[in-house]
Amino acid sequence: MITSVMKRILFTSLIFTSFFVRAQEINIIPEPVSVKQTKNNAFVFINAGTPIVVDGDAFDKSVNFLNDYLTRFYRIKLRTTPTPIGNNVIRLTFSNPFTTVQNGYKLTVDGNGITIAGDNANSVFNGIQTLIQLLPAPGSSLRLPVPYCEITDYPRFSYRGMHLDCCRHFFPIDYIKKYIDFLALHKMNYFHWHLTDDQGWRIEIKKYPKLTQVGGWRNGTIIGRYPGTGNDSIHYGGFYTQEQIKEIVRYAADRYITVVPEIEMPGHAMAALAAYPYLGCTKGPYEVQQTWGVFDDVFCAGNDSTYTFLQGVLDEVMSLFPSKYIHIGGDECPKTRWKTCPVCQKRIKTEKLKDENALQSYFIQRIEKYVNSKGRSIIGWDEILEGGLAPNATVMSWRGEQGGISAAVQNHDVIMTPGDWCYLDKSQSEHEDSITIGGYLPVSKVYSYEPVPASLTADQAKHILGAQGNVWTEYIGNTKKLEYMLFPRMSALSEVLWSQKMNRDWSDFERRLLAEFRRYDLWKVNYSDAYFELNTSVLPDSNHDGILWKIENKFNKPMFMTFEGTDSTWGYNGPQLIQNTVKARGFFNIDNRTVEVKQNFYFNKATGKNIALAKEPSKNYPGDGAFTLVDGIQNDKGMDRPSQLLGFIGNDCDAIIDLGSPQYLSNVNFHTLKDTGNWIWPPKYVEVFISDDGKNFSSVKRSDDFSSTGRTNVVFKVNFGLVKTRYIRVLAKNTGVIPNGNPGAGYESWLFADEIEIN
Ligand code: ACM
Ligand code: ZN
Repeated sequence: MITSVMKRILFTSLIFTSFFVRAQEINIIPEPVSVKQTKNNAFVFINAGTPIVVDGDAFDKSVNFLNDYLTRFYRIKLRTTPTPIGNNVIRLTFSNPFTTVQNGYKLTVDGNGITIAGDNANSVFNGIQTLIQLLPAPGSSLRLPVPYCEITDYPRFSYRGMHLDCCRHFFPIDYIKKYIDFLALHKMNYFHWHLTDDQGWRIEIKKYPKLTQVGGWRNGTIIGRYPGTGNDSIHYGGFYTQEQIKEIVRYAADRYITVVPEIEMPGHAMAALAAYPYLGCTKGPYEVQQTWGVFDDVFCAGNDSTYTFLQGVLDEVMSLFPSKYIHIGGDECPKTRWKTCPVCQKRIKTEKLKDENALQSYFIQRIEKYVNSKGRSIIGWDEILEGGLAPNATVMSWRGEQGGISAAVQNHDVIMTPGDWCYLDKSQSEHEDSITIGGYLPVSKVYSYEPVPASLTADQAKHILGAQGNVWTEYIGNTKKLEYMLFPRMSALSEVLWSQKMNRDWSDFERRLLAEFRRYDLWKVNYSDAYFELNTSVLPDSNHDGILWKIENKFNKPMFMTFEGTDSTWGYNGPQLIQNTVKARGFFNIDNRTVEVKQNFYFNKATGKNIALAKEPSKNYPGDGAFTLVDGIQNDKGMDRPSQLLGFIGNDCDAIIDLGSPQYLSNVNFHTLKDTGNWIWPPKYVEVFISDDGKNFSSVKRSDDFSSTGRTNVVFKVNFGLVKTRYIRVLAKNTGVIPNGNPGAGYESWLFADEIEIN
């Protein structure tokens, strides 16, 4: 019996539904090869009575995934039948629509219902992911409209991967399943599971139980960004039992996803060494590491017992993971211990190896031979190129694209994961509040990635199997943060991997991304809304009375500003003149969220004045030109906020500032960066010159004294006796070639300039 209240609810929800139906666009991510909406406002309505028509059990994985999704998000569960009645059906069927491409499908929604036809069961599963994205988000459990359409689709790359580091932080088995679901929903097919590292060994190995008993746990973790402000002293760890691993492999296989395990060697081995110190060159004692980075203690490459141990580990790994690929790491292995270890040196002699790089190559090749003998293949990070590539190895190119290019030229398969586009541990906003590994990788940059380097020939390009997003978890301690780092960048990457190059279109992706955000809401994932963020810039004021703060949003929404110390809110109608040191905030509202940006402005005599540079900065780090140095913004985020920096490679930063009229001054502060790990060096010195005519300058002071104001931010204070002048020249001398013993030794150093302060 339907009560009148129920009737009213039904009635309003029908009105709501039909209104919603008309507005329902097709927004698939990743973009299919071809999408045709065949009839406007015509829909097939899925409801609890809609059967899935299947003959036999070939499509069980698709049926289960779809039903799981429908149950979870719409509280509908569909039954299967071999013989349909009527047209309100979802038909899964084999066909052979594509002869030259793997895993293609055709999805048709019309008067005969919904049909997904694929050349194999995996193809149909891909089609299921598209069907899921045709559903409204959110939607009513009474009936789910699916627009009439014809979709033809197949993947561009055969390797479409996501990686997860479960060593720096541990993620429980239930969440690994959720992660795998995210992959499936994005038509990704490889999960690279990073299981061993310096900070924890996460896979149970029955032959070597101490790996998890000892190596699975650390006695604390640094607090904050490396090198940290202390240690939390919390016993931390965990591991996956072999039963759990099998469960995950099965769960992934049910979604046509291959799990590629990574067992790191010869570096990143501290957790293994802590468990079995005989595996190291010095024999320990060793500890599971509590901080991040690269450690000198690695597996001894000379001792046969190292290889026996690793083969024992790999035996169990290969019995757990059916994957053709076994990832053996190979990255970031210092040769420090090997250089002084008699056993390693003896190995170099007896194997007639050139040096320690060749020893690493020997190590990897010996392991490769073992893995190959079991019918499997290795993947290694691009360091495995050094000293000679193992004959059958696939290279994962992470230090840029060059490793991948070299490997492809040598006819080796390649998976691209270059840090600048594929490392989802970087910040996705220049105003990021949480700690990240550093660097700036917005969703638009992920989207712009092209996995096939232009320099490869067509034959070499065939070796680029695809690409992968890497999620290192030093600063990702929980699943909320993990989702924040993943979304929406993973969605952008899925399109890089799946969609045809000619179908890649950022502005069209932006339109579909808005629908994707509603899907994230439906899934209750904690995505980043950095995409919505305000673009900000500072412009010179023509009268030099201050600076102009400009804010913009992509959505033509009205914007507002507030300034600390006043209660009023300004409606924004153009760049706002700012004349004093102040904390400013700009914001707008969209989709029930307030998007805001905060900016502190620091005023001094140079702020907003005319400035000219003797030499232009590098094209890669142009900031907003010379004005960046006097725009009132002090960059407090180093390279995480590159738009606020001018970068000079090999060159000096040499600026002349016109104060407009002679003024008294006694101090110049030059704000710069020191990040020698990234080849960024502070200037050798900063020298200040003054002039009344802007032509003839005399030096007043040179200073090589600087102090730290942030993790990588430093300031040179140049103090001198009171002078009166109109023109000031500030010369920051590039330190020149990077000295030996430092990252980038022998190359020209980078000099970064942020702000010039005159007091
Ligand atoms: C890596 O990021 N060390 C492969
Ligand atoms: Zn050794």
